[in-house]
This record gives sequence, C-alpha cells and structure tokens, in this order.
Amino acid sequence: MIFHYHFTERLKKEEGSDHIMKSIVLYSSHTGRTKKIAEHVVSGLPEGTPCLPVEEMPADINSYDCVFLGCWADGDAVDAGAAQALEQLDNKNVAVFVTVQSGPFSDDSAKILRTVIDVLPSGCKIVGTYVTPTEREDNKEESDQKARAFARDFAENTLDRLMGAGV
Ligand SMILES: Cc1cc2nc3c(=O)[nH]c(=O)nc-3n(C[C@H](O)[C@H](O)[C@H](O)COP(=O)(O)O)c2cc1C
Repeated sequence: MIFHYHFTERLKKEEGSDHIMKSIVLYSSHTGRTKKIAEHVVSGLPEGTPCLPVEEMPADINSYDCVFLGCWADGDAVDAGAAQALEQLDNKNVAVFVTVQSGPFSDDSAKILRTVIDVLPSGCKIVGTYVTPTEREDNKEESDQKARAFARDFAENTLDRLMGAGV
C-alpha cells in the first residue's frame, strides 16, 4: 500500500538507512485515566508499538529511539511510579504526557513538568510534552474525544519533528 510505504520510509532514521525508528509507550496510572491516554497516544504511532505499564518496562528500554512516558500529578510532583521509571531512562528522546486534575493551563501543570525535568537523567532530551485534564464527569464523551484527538496529534507531531519534518 502506498500510504504504508511512505509512512515506513518516513520512520527511517537516515536516508539510505534501513533502521526504522522504534518507539514505546509506558504509563503510570492509579485510577486509569493515564492508561486511557496512553492508548490514545499509541493509536497515533506505527502499528505494533508497545504500550505497557511502567512496572513492565522492558529490560532493553534504552534500545528504543523514543520513549513516550505517561504520568499523573501527585501534589505538585510527578507520581512516584513514573519518577522511578524516568530515573532509569538513558534514551536521547523522551516524550512526556501528564494527566492533571487542575488542567493543562494550571500552576500544577508547570510544576509537575519541572519535576519531570528534575528526575530525568541529564543525557535525555524531552522531545514532546502533552498535559491533559482529568476526564470531566459532566461530559465524559466529549472530553474523551478531545483527549483522543490531542493525544494522537501529540504522538504524530513528536515523531514528525524527530524525523526532521520541522513542524
Ligand atoms: C494522591 C493524589 C494526589 C493528587 N494531586 C493532584 C494535584 O496536586 N494536582 C492535580 O491537578 N491533580 C492531582 N491529582 C489528580 C490526578 O493527577 C488525576 O486524577 C489523574 O488523572 C490521575 O491519573 P490516573 O487516573 O492515571 O491515576 C491527585 C490524585 C491523587 C490520587
């Protein structure tokens, strides 16, 4: 299929190289919201991209070209499970998504991203960020539809930038 061919070609790290960009989605989730967002994120990535809880982080995690890591806000810090996973990364490209009850434009949102930077080893680069609000009880369907669209866009945009498309 023409579309599949172009997509695969786009994922090759360098022209003339057969190395396909390998991504993985990991998430920490207490009540299930971040897990749901992780599933939306993986739907914007190439078929077969793994999507796992941080407790199942593979031993060869540092062989991935890009790690998408999902966290939740615990006070004004990133949750402990995600922090533990972030500390172990040695990947050049890490894209972070966070669920925050007070929403993406809040003070909490900025503070949580700061704690992500603090725990991530200095050799890692943050190549994408997406902060999403906790699902709204009064309009679950609409808030989930929005989150799905943004999460896919976050995933696709991050890969596009990594592939040098300059968006
Ligand atoms: C112990 C605890 C502390 C929390 N602290 C904050 C907070 O300070 N600010 C905030 O916006 N959300 C806070 N939240 C809300 C969670 O970040 C939010 O509900 C998130 O969507 C949970 O993700 P999960 O469903 O994947 O566990 C807290 C939740 C818990 C359980």
